[in-house]
Amino acid sequence: MKINQLNIVVLTGAGISAESGLRTFRDNGGLWEEHPVEEVATPQAWQRNPSMVWGFYQSRRRQLSEVEPNPAHFALSKLAEYAKDFFLITQNVDDLHERSGIMDVVHMHGQLRMLRCELSGKSEERMEPSDLESDFQFCTCCETASRLRPDIVWFGEQPMNMVEIYNKIETCDVFIVVGSSGHVYPAAGLVNFAKQFNVQTILINLEEPLNSFMFDETHFGSAGKILPKLVNEWIEQSSLC
Ligand code: OAD
Repeated sequence: MKINQLNIVVLTGAGISAESGLRTFRDNGGLWEEHPVEEVATPQAWQRNPSMVWGFYQSRRRQLSEVEPNPAHFALSKLAEYAKDFFLITQNVDDLHERSGIMDVVHMHGQLRMLRCELSGKSEERMEPSDLESDFQFCTCCETASRLRPDIVWFGEQPMNMVEIYNKIETCDVFIVVGSSGHVYPAAGLVNFAKQFNVQTILINLEEPLNSFMFDETHFGSAGKILPKLVNEWIEQSSLC
């Protein structure tokens, strides 16, 4: 694959951050086993029991400072450097892609670093030590400060940036998915969308996900081992041209 001639779009899921020590959602011991989705990841949960939801996300926000990008994140930032065009979509709410050097990341499910005003809907980056305390935090945008909620897309809410995401996929040459179980739509359906435009599709995942039959090429194993090797191979193939 001559990546220096290709427009590449990548979609990542929780699997890419697993080797950094962040738990995935649906694997054994995944986050949804200990914290059922309906208790922490729906607008209804926030209405019913905001303290529980707030506590869940505050502990995930605090955890960001304890983890580092892994070789899979760095392999993607190398791919971004060598590809003709590169666009990264992530379902992940962590900041490990940015910390591996890719600044232009589209977070379709939101970001832990941000909090959103419940009244105005405006998001602000809030990662100062006082922002990470257990108490609710309040916005800087309203005259009387309003409560902030996690800037996360919960079940039943619309993912972010979908128009841009569809536009990028329909005009790319290669669509690569890393570390996602194919359970959550619309992310899981993006491979089908790519196929409609004759885009080449590649999967890197630990185990076979639900939608693996949609991919032209599959690589099963840990992303931290497979991606660096693949990216180096692609760089070598490109420099032969
Ligand atoms: P899942 O937890 O559903 O799936 C993670 C996938 O990563 C599984 O298929 C694993 O086999 C794979 N995996 C685990 N370790 C890996 C490794 N080291 N290398 C490669 N693959 C590995 O996570 P997602 O598919 O990202 O949404 O979940 C999608 C959405 O569901 C999340 O964004 C989250 C969740 O509910 C929200 O919270 C809005």
